[in-house]
Amino acid sequence: MRRLRRTDWSRRLVRESTLTIDDLIWPMFVVEGDDTATPVPSMPGVERWGINNIVRAAEEAGALGIPALALFPYTDPDLRDENGSEALNEQNLVCRAIRAIKAAVPNVGVITDVALDPYTSHGHDGLMAGDEILNDETVAQLCRQALVQAAAGADVIAPSDMMDGRIGAIRRALDENGFSHVQIMSYAAKYASAFYGPFRDAVGTSKTLRGDKRTYQMDPGNTDEAIREAELDLAEGADTIMVKPGMPYLDVLRRIKDTFAVPTFAYQVSGEYAMIQAAAQNGWIDGERAMVESLMAFKRAGADGVLTYFAPAVARQLKAGG
Ligand code: PBG
Repeated sequence: MRRLRRTDWSRRLVRESTLTIDDLIWPMFVVEGDDTATPVPSMPGVERWGINNIVRAAEEAGALGIPALALFPYTDPDLRDENGSEALNEQNLVCRAIRAIKAAVPNVGVITDVALDPYTSHGHDGLMAGDEILNDETVAQLCRQALVQAAAGADVIAPSDMMDGRIGAIRRALDENGFSHVQIMSYAAKYASAFYGPFRDAVGTSKTLRGDKRTYQMDPGNTDEAIREAELDLAEGADTIMVKPGMPYLDVLRRIKDTFAVPTFAYQVSGEYAMIQAAAQNGWIDGERAMVESLMAFKRAGADGVLTYFAPAVARQLKAGG
């Protein structure tokens, strides 16, 4: 076996999986204030950006060749309420960011999150009655949210809420309102995970979240359920499927890819990013190598692409020929 490993040229020649810039989706956090740049302490190297900085980042994505970016808003706490009504405001932060990006760099894909958590006072992804998350009422609200984002110019609607039946309902709403070209990337297998902690810091829900999300996000012990989720979402009209978190769920990614043979994405979530960055900052691991190795692992497991906060760093490295 070692004959093939002896030299760099040979290792490159027999390598089965490759990571390219075309595999990357860059998630970013939007905040009020055009030139704002506030570091997210639990995500070293990541900042919440005002719209001017978001546009600059989108331009950099375009220059590097990163195909798409994903937007997540930090909503002003005063604008959060029980029903997440700010999600339906055509002038909300995400909608303004979409329009600004599309005006500046129309060729970079814009993916927007559909879920109510950045807009609700309780931090949940859906509407509540007491301690219950209401399914169908939430789905109706998510359809309106998706239409507002599509009207602002979003290319891909990415429902991350995990309500039942939302993909079909959103697909119909999009089609009936002239947005049949807008894709749906379904967070199909999304687990109730501890690895979202830093993200919740970034969007300002870690302090407000009441309870947990276990009545709608998946149980970490399950994989058959992930197959059923993906099957339903595909039948309802999802164009692409996502598995989230990423690294701890590579088995789920592989199973979905092998079962359905559709474009399947992994989300290397905030906690995964934070672990690598924290260990690297302590000098415990080589951060640059861990970054590339972790992303290669997604490709090996069958991912067509990865949402990763490392997107700009790894794209710069790949562009430099590293
Ligand atoms: C919210 C949402 C979450 C993430 C993406 N969309 C957090 C959650 O479900 O609580 C997590 C992303 C990350 O951790 O990087 N619907």
